[in-house]
Amino acid sequence: MINDIHRLDPEIRLRPVTESDAASLAAALTRSRTYMSPWEPRRPDAFYTEQGQRERLAGILADREAGRAMSWVLADEDDRAVGGFNLNAIVLGPFRSATLGYWVDVEYAGRGLATTAVRLICDLARDELRLHRVEAGTLLHNVASRRVLTKCGFEQFALVPRYMHIDGDWRDHRLFQRVLHDGPVTGAPAAPGA
Ligand SMILES: CC(C)(COP(=O)(O)OP(=O)(O)OC[C@H]1O[C@@H](n2cnc3c(N)ncnc32)[C@H](O)[C@@H]1OP(=O)(O)O)[C@@H](O)C(=O)NCCC(=O)NCCS
Repeated sequence: MINDIHRLDPEIRLRPVTESDAASLAAALTRSRTYMSPWEPRRPDAFYTEQGQRERLAGILADREAGRAMSWVLADEDDRAVGGFNLNAIVLGPFRSATLGYWVDVEYAGRGLATTAVRLICDLARDELRLHRVEAGTLLHNVASRRVLTKCGFEQFALVPRYMHIDGDWRDHRLFQRVLHDGPVTGAPAAPGA
């Protein structure tokens, strides 16, 4: 279920983000700052503090309540957040689409966690949110992220010039999508905030 805790490997679980993740998110983002900086928007120093994360989480949780987004963290054995996964811009009606974003703590990268989490989130998006497609964008040279997406069944459908402001400039992006199903639009979706 969308609000359940899912074990990804012996050490790491995927679970919905909560307000109490602010401190561990600030710590994980701080130690991963240099590693992530080529792939991320420039952030003010306040973003890397517990208070900055508390403010960010307030927006994330409000979006979840409103059914606009769903956010998970990777949680270690001590339940500290060591990565983040978001389905943003959830749109229903005939589009039934969402945009996927993710990061993994530098200390946990390269062991298959992003691939396992993205596969699981796509299953939840199809079976519980009843979405038709999930979209994700990467910088042209983000080979690791592209590899995650292609392993999870995403296909590139566009190459967009100056798409997003990343690492200090407007950068070209590859856009990928995974079509989750081609069935009819039936029933109400599970509410992310339920
Ligand atoms: C992208 C990211 C989430 C991947 O997380 P992860 O848990 O390390 O990913 P996985 O271990 O599941 O898979 C990574 C794949 O990329 C490959 N890879 C990693 N770095 C690579 C590199 N520099 N060149 C080529 N392949 C690379 C790995 O070998 C693996 O592929 P494989 O299974 O075929 O060997 C992580 O690197 C990250 O957080 N990066 C910074 C933020 C970011 O880029 N977010 C995505 C924005 S679109």
